[in-house]
Amino acid sequence: MLDTKSAPDVDTLTEAEAAEELARLAADIAHHDAAYHTLDAPEISDADYDALRRRNSAIEARFPELIRADSPSARVGGAVESGFSKLRHRVPMLSLDNAFGAEEFAEFCARAKRFLGRTEPLVFVAEPKIDGLSINLSYEHGRFVRGATRGDGTEGEDVTANLRTMKSVPDQLIGEAPAFIEVRGEVFMTKADFLTLNQTQAEAGSKIFANPRNAAAGSLRQLDTRITASRPLSLFAYAQGESSEPVAATHWDYLQRLTAWGFDVNPLSRRLENETDAEAFQNEIGLERSGLGYDIDGVVYKIDDLSLQRRLGFVGRAPRWAIAWKFPAEQATTVLREIRIQVGRTGALTPVAELEPVNVGGVLVARATLHNEDEIARKDIRVGDTVVLQRAGDVIPQIVSVVLERRPEDSTAFVFPAVCPACGSHAVRPPGEVVKRCTGGLICSAQLVERLIHFVSRTAFDIDGLGGKTIQEFYNEGWLHSPADIFKLPEREEVIATREGWGKLSARNLSRSIAARRTISLERFIYALGIRRIGESNAKLLARHYGSFANWRAQMLAARQIGSDERSELGSISGIGPTIAEELTDFFDEPRNIATLDEVAAELTIQDAARAESADSPVAGKTVVFTGTLETLTRPEAKARAESLGAKVTDSVSKKTDIVVVGADAGSKARKAAELGVRTMTEAEWRELVG
Ligand code: IVH
Repeated sequence: MLDTKSAPDVDTLTEAEAAEELARLAADIAHHDAAYHTLDAPEISDADYDALRRRNSAIEARFPELIRADSPSARVGGAVESGFSKLRHRVPMLSLDNAFGAEEFAEFCARAKRFLGRTEPLVFVAEPKIDGLSINLSYEHGRFVRGATRGDGTEGEDVTANLRTMKSVPDQLIGEAPAFIEVRGEVFMTKADFLTLNQTQAEAGSKIFANPRNAAAGSLRQLDTRITASRPLSLFAYAQGESSEPVAATHWDYLQRLTAWGFDVNPLSRRLENETDAEAFQNEIGLERSGLGYDIDGVVYKIDDLSLQRRLGFVGRAPRWAIAWKFPAEQATTVLREIRIQVGRTGALTPVAELEPVNVGGVLVARATLHNEDEIARKDIRVGDTVVLQRAGDVIPQIVSVVLERRPEDSTAFVFPAVCPACGSHAVRPPGEVVKRCTGGLICSAQLVERLIHFVSRTAFDIDGLGGKTIQEFYNEGWLHSPADIFKLPEREEVIATREGWGKLSARNLSRSIAARRTISLERFIYALGIRRIGESNAKLLARHYGSFANWRAQMLAARQIGSDERSELGSISGIGPTIAEELTDFFDEPRNIATLDEVAAELTIQDAARAESADSPVAGKTVVFTGTLETLTRPEAKARAESLGAKVTDSVSKKTDIVVVGADAGSKARKAAELGVRTMTEAEWRELVG
């Protein structure tokens, strides 16, 4: 992504450079819009995002002839995601231009006055700008009938059912209301509610939200209304959409009507007589900002007189009658004492900066996320460095940069650990991914409970009476260190029977259901191990291909050797491929995983995979490759039929291949078969062979 701080001055750009940069900015901004609005998972801070947009506007101002059809300045972020039906807004939901500082605010006022041909001071209504998500609520004869998110500004998502669960969305307006009216406002989450929600989410192993805005958006855009109902969402109403009759002459009066109808209007909203009062208000709110219960990133100033608003109208995506005066990002410098590596439940290693506690905009910060290995390298962040911290509308502070002048002389670049700090297993980072992961899934204390819950789950060992809560409890007692310990639980039956919530009968039943699962199919066993990317269907492929536990284990150990026949065989199993092969070999590369595997296998009878429909079919046990276009069968049909007759179907030809079935236009595989002397046959010959 473009670094706007080190980018060349806009005034020095040639036309060609400008065109190139505008193209890049359009793509970058579109990417971040999608990350933010559509996926609710921003990758950069709001301040960095604003900087990208500002740079784009500055270049466009200098080279208006280069403005692109897909220019970010003509678009409001966020396309509509599927899952909800779409609702078209009768009046588009637009955005606001930003002012960064008093000078830009004064320019905004001057422009508006020039447009109106006025010299008298402008009267404003000021409203703190909460960073949530804007919604449009439709009322017919005072009754709430529909509600939608902003979406792309023209069309949003129909979230009516979810909005109905919110206390602050009145179902019926109080008093008189027009036959039809649209009310707009911001759905948000308070800082306290956000922190509590994340805590609950973390305990449940569910998604952690990056900031209150994402938590609010994620909560409102739930397909399951019950989830929205359980989330603490608030709403401040602040704007009008379509209306069957005028409801006020000024915005201030409109806000009073909203209150009378039963909406919450931000109590800090104020009517201001002129620009000087606006500046004073900006400073006042700036001082109160960190003490507020919700995050704000600026103040919105709207010209109060609605007839003036109508005359001013819109330019591009924003009104001429309103502006968002943003606060500068809250920054502070402090010393980074240590980089600690946290291990998540899925084994992800996340670096966390432990800081000399410092006050950033009223909040004491002692910790900041460093995201991942690349991020540390990109900013060259080192232990002992003085770093610039920033809270930009986000509760989670970020490290913006390092103050190089204050770097200790003996400092060394941070080396991301190669082993997991929780269990010592080696950590790996698959090509193309940013996250390094611990491979000690079954032995790593940070992951163990999650892995055990998976191990006993319905689609794996399916042990009745052993759910997540019980696993956690038994783990806390120190009874579970690895999957094998589950099979030792019956030895504790008497103690279990005396525990709260248990009795003789339920403890007995637990022992019975554990005993009943000592015999297990190979595919369930492989799936239960919880190896990354080995879900039910891949486990089944592996079981079918290798047949027995002993064979699978031996083949996986041999496949660790890159370039071995076993490795290419694994990678060529139809549906497996090299990425999944690597996850398996990473697992088997960790000796303690093998020890754990053997320990649990010793407790079990692992059944061989159900192989052929008829073991004596002519292709049972043979390795078959289909290549070229088949005429009477589809590929999946051919494959399923071959497998049901006990053949193994792979994608590539090696000396282990027994038969290559050659369809029309076959290429390199047929050639390779000829080279290796592998038996080839036509589709017709194959059909004859298998009947
Ligand atoms: S008025 C045409 N008022 O800011 C003007 N917007 O950057 C429409 N926002 O999409 C918006 N507080 O999500 C308005 N008091 C306020 C606001 C506010 C927050 C958000 C809103 C809007 C965005 C525009």
